[in-house]
Amino acid sequence: MADSRPILFFDSGVGGLSVLAPTAKLLPHAPLVYVADSAGFPYGTRSEAEIAARVPALLGRLAERYDPRLIVIACNTASTIALQHVRAALDVPIVGTVPAIKPAAEQSRTRVIGVLGTKATVRQPYVDDLARRFGDDCTVLRYGSAALVEIAEAKLGGHNPDPERLRAELDGLFMQAQGDRLDMIVNACTHFPLLEDEMAAVAPHRVTFVDGGPGIARRVQHLLEGQTWPDEHASGRAVFTKRTAHTDALAPALARFGLSATESL
Ligand code: SIN
Repeated sequence: MADSRPILFFDSGVGGLSVLAPTAKLLPHAPLVYVADSAGFPYGTRSEAEIAARVPALLGRLAERYDPRLIVIACNTASTIALQHVRAALDVPIVGTVPAIKPAAEQSRTRVIGVLGTKATVRQPYVDDLARRFGDDCTVLRYGSAALVEIAEAKLGGHNPDPERLRAELDGLFMQAQGDRLDMIVNACTHFPLLEDEMAAVAPHRVTFVDGGPGIARRVQHLLEGQTWPDEHASGRAVFTKRTAHTDALAPALARFGLSATESL
């Protein structure tokens, strides 16, 4: 009999949609639940202790409520801080999202890579470790931006990004290169791929962006290989931990990602 249990995607806001989209493409019959912790947003300016306590507790409630076959933590901040705690607490396969430094280092010609994440993500020891393991012969620059998270949320709520604000944020990374040519940017926050076209348009020179979304989609497909899916393409639903005017304004964008029903916890 077909298994109707969903794959559950979790983020602080809309960023995880950049991970849901490639997964939905690979697994078109998978029932999807997308949860945005709008009551806790933004994560990137919270302390490690808050995230380490909040994320496993919330995912525990969500696992009970939705009985997912797999959970994707579609948020770099939550994954780099709380992934181990969540895995220890829940008996459900968990896939996390960590900065794609490995593919960036594999593709970089100049050996200068920028990691663009939240302030919380770029200071994590997890990122030091990835840089050591995969970018040992690269200069790995980092910049933490809260503004880009806000701009991505606003874009999906119907507000066009202001190019000057984007340029000012990217300057925070490019200026560190001091004349060296930065050729790869790791989108180390799932919100940022949603702004990739706009960021490419204001970058001072051509640069390639990488993110974890496609790799996560392949990993989910691999982990769920052999499982059965409903025959009909089920439309997904979005869940917010708190309903606000902003979450209401997101409905048209969510529908474009195949999430037609919206509810709050
Ligand atoms: C945020 O809530 O600050 C964004 C979290 C992330 O995707 O890393």
